[in-house]
Amino acid sequence: MPEFVLPPVVLLGPGASSTVGKEVAALGCRKVLVVSDKFLVEMGLVARIQEHLKAAGVESLVFSEVNPDPTTGNVASGIKVLKEGGCDGVVSVGGGSALDCGKTIAYIGAAIPDDPLKAVKTVPQATCSLPFIAIPTTAGTGSEATQFVVITDPVAQEKMVVVRRNLMPRLALDDPELTVTMPPKMTAATGMDAFTHAVEAFVSPNASPLSDALALKAITLIGRHLRQAFAKGDDISARTGMMEAQLLAGMAFNNAGLGYTHAMAHPLGARYHVHHGVCCSLLLPAVCAFNLSVVPERYREIAAALGCTTRGLSTEAAAREAVAAIAQLRHDLKLPQRLSEVGVREEDLASLAEEALHDRCAPTNPRQGTKEEVMAIYRAAL
Ligand SMILES: [Fe+2]
Repeated sequence: MPEFVLPPVVLLGPGASSTVGKEVAALGCRKVLVVSDKFLVEMGLVARIQEHLKAAGVESLVFSEVNPDPTTGNVASGIKVLKEGGCDGVVSVGGGSALDCGKTIAYIGAAIPDDPLKAVKTVPQATCSLPFIAIPTTAGTGSEATQFVVITDPVAQEKMVVVRRNLMPRLALDDPELTVTMPPKMTAATGMDAFTHAVEAFVSPNASPLSDALALKAITLIGRHLRQAFAKGDDISARTGMMEAQLLAGMAFNNAGLGYTHAMAHPLGARYHVHHGVCCSLLLPAVCAFNLSVVPERYREIAAALGCTTRGLSTEAAAREAVAAIAQLRHDLKLPQRLSEVGVREEDLASLAEEALHDRCAPTNPRQGTKEEVMAIYRAAL
């Protein structure tokens, strides 16, 4: 039976993050672990969140040892602080890394694991998790609306995608004011991550009318707002549009799944330490071109959502307009255009393709390829 899973409560709008104290207290938490990164601690944002918590009578501890690609070691260290501090909930403040790390700490923190790597892979759905509250500071991952986490095993250089219902946050506070200081480069990369979520969810074989509505609206909003958020970071209307879009995209892929762009981006990120959104943006047009022949009508709808002129064109020609518009968006955002720019070499493609085909996101790509075909997609983006 297909299931449709959405976050229970999202407060979205300027100032949403200032409600954290009263909302966390309402969930019954008395002492929470705030998971973030060093930069946001230095910026004073973590202290502001702690003040809101304190004002509502909620104590807090901070764990800020989160890598850009959170590792099993980060999760283990966070669980140690959580347990020693006697925390009964987790609040993550940050980008996808802080959110995924915090979600995993809250999820397996109650299970007292000796081996977090093993626990991430084996703790079942039924395990009781601690209340988790997500406060994103980027508009990209949609992690506050998904039951997905990506945790890196540094020894195997593998990005593990874990999907469990218990990983869905209890509450998301989507505050566009927190994104106005995001630099243009980060705005572009995270925005293209959200865009990729929407496109991959829309063309997935698991898409449904419910996920389509979310994905297509996300594509429209990103087409309308991402260039402006990139060019003028303090435009709160553009930032709000992007916050809405990445939430919609997260809800869409949470149910429809992702595809080869993500399956191929994960080994790239694990090996070259390139930002996930940049990896997605580098691969997306080539993956769309590969998929085009099997679902052209879907790409035609994407072209229309992006405002391309499709009237009078054949379905195939309209679909190609979507791929051109995506490449143009990447160009306008001044992102890297070729994989070679981030250090990828021809001799790496065979092992990258091997890993991509085993990635959790691969089965929901609309067209399944051989190792040679996946290598050819990488080569087209090289
Ligand atoms: Fe992503």
